Amino acid sequence: MHQKTVYLETFGCQMNELDSELVQGQLEALGYRFTPDDTRADIVLYNTCSVREQAENKALSRVGIISQRKRDGADLILGVLGCMAERDGKDMIRRHPQIDLMCGPSELDRLPLLLDNVAKARASEQGQATLLDRVALAGSRSRRSTTLGAAEDSLELLDLSRAFSPDLNGKAAGRSAYVRITRGCNKFCTYCVVPHTRGAEVHRPPSEILAECRQLAEKGVLEVTLLGQTVNHYCYTHGTALSMEGRELAQVGPGLKAFRGGSTGTNAHTTSFADLLQRIHEEVPELQRIRFVTSYPRDFGDDILDVIAASPRICPYLHVPAQSGSNRMLKLMNRGYTVEEYLEFIDRAIKRVPDVSIAGDIIVGFPGETDEDFQATVNLLRQVPFKNNFIFKYSPRPGTVAIDRFEDDIPDPIKRERNNLLLAVQAEVSEAVHARWVGREVDVLVEQVSKRDQERPNRPLKSQEGDSGGVTLTAHGKALADHANGDATMGSVRHGTENPKASQDAGPVQLSGRTGGDLITFFNSPSGIDPGELIGTIQKVRVHESGVLSLSGTLQSQLPGTLATT
Ligand code: 5AD
Ligand code: SF4
Repeated sequence: MHQKTVYLETFGCQMNELDSELVQGQLEALGYRFTPDDTRADIVLYNTCSVREQAENKALSRVGIISQRKRDGADLILGVLGCMAERDGKDMIRRHPQIDLMCGPSELDRLPLLLDNVAKARASEQGQATLLDRVALAGSRSRRSTTLGAAEDSLELLDLSRAFSPDLNGKAAGRSAYVRITRGCNKFCTYCVVPHTRGAEVHRPPSEILAECRQLAEKGVLEVTLLGQTVNHYCYTHGTALSMEGRELAQVGPGLKAFRGGSTGTNAHTTSFADLLQRIHEEVPELQRIRFVTSYPRDFGDDILDVIAASPRICPYLHVPAQSGSNRMLKLMNRGYTVEEYLEFIDRAIKRVPDVSIAGDIIVGFPGETDEDFQATVNLLRQVPFKNNFIFKYSPRPGTVAIDRFEDDIPDPIKRERNNLLLAVQAEVSEAVHARWVGREVDVLVEQVSKRDQERPNRPLKSQEGDSGGVTLTAHGKALADHANGDATMGSVRHGTENPKASQDAGPVQLSGRTGGDLITFFNSPSGIDPGELIGTIQKVRVHESGVLSLSGTLQSQLPGTLATT
């Protein structure tokens, strides 16, 4: 039988990157092969993002191209996965009849069945499967009527069935992996589509998270990034949800209000986020780096900060989106904290966690944002030592409270101007944050040959397929931005473009990686060493120079067989 070849392209966030990895593992186990070339595929899948309109437009234009190829006679199966499928629902298939299947982010375990249904119907006289057989969306599924626990349990199997053979072309040569700790979100920020597309916040049992971390470590993974929309709200109550075999099940987390009044709390029957971090750190000592994203600025207890400070392998890196520096805007956004509370948290983090590195997200041009509101955001950026901020122009999303209640009244040129102003302020702040590292030694997880050297015509090493300039080339797709679909602006300087003194001719190969605090760091590979061997290892680098978005330095580690360090 002809082995089906799949092209899978991912848009959007790290959660989508992980989903795509799991989909690929699941389909490969069933005999499907993957190709990075969509012209060679029998099946084209887009794993989409709905957080902003721009991300959806990008996916739609891809759908348009493939639809045209199908109309021209190409025998292809076209599938739309992820948040856009969930958000747009069956309307999308009606408007784009060339789409064969749609699968929401909480239904991905059913993708093999949908593919089967479509292929079988094609082979039969029927031609096209019924909508019910080729569409799996949480909004339309009957199993909502069964317990959420049972539904989440089959999803749980998808996470657990991940392909554990490290992808050597992947991040840091397969030494870095994502592990989901929660799915969905209950916070309902007024601008955000995530609670509508990814559903209720569900917390995985700690035993399953630890099992996954252990399996990854056994396969040589050095770094795990724990994923959740609001990781610090992780809390698992034991003894409440068990499967027939006595296995703990995923459980629904509380909403924003449940946290009013302080920390997430801990007792003998719950595993808090601090407990989870501590357990992973203690029980999986092979993991050299434990990271987590994204944190919610409220209810970030000292217990979590203290575990980070006391655990050398937990990275002192916090991605805590502030979204705005104006209390009026934060209220309209339903963020549930004030600027003063945000600053109080940042102060605590800086005091308790040495060298903590802080990143964030900001939305400009939210409905009604006045010059004063915007100025308050500028002030916030000047008050907090952010290593970077992803800055987004407000994009009204169907189904959200904001689109129903507030007019999108800030004209695009103003949004753009505010975006650019913030980028300029952030560039100054980032430069100062990076400058503090000059003269110090940092541990770098080496990820790749720097973009500059990948592009050098006579570079001595073949370019890895991998990260380049804030855009990740996945094993199964084209461009995937570092964060939130690449429509965030993060400053004009990209990986590999700083460090102007470096030679453009043959010579030492420049490598890049990240510090524990997620600072991009460049260094030259020493002569006498195959630079490829350093990728996926952690090395000591002494920092000599810093820029807006990166550090550069020289390798300090004593490498066997090193003739000289450059
Ligand atoms: N418009 C603009 N930015 C948004 N984000 C989420 N929803 C929207 C929207 N409707 C941003 C937030 C969030 C990040 C992932 O995307 O800053 O933290
Ligand atoms: Fe969206 Fe707010 Fe949930 Fe983040 S916390 S995913 S912005 S609703």
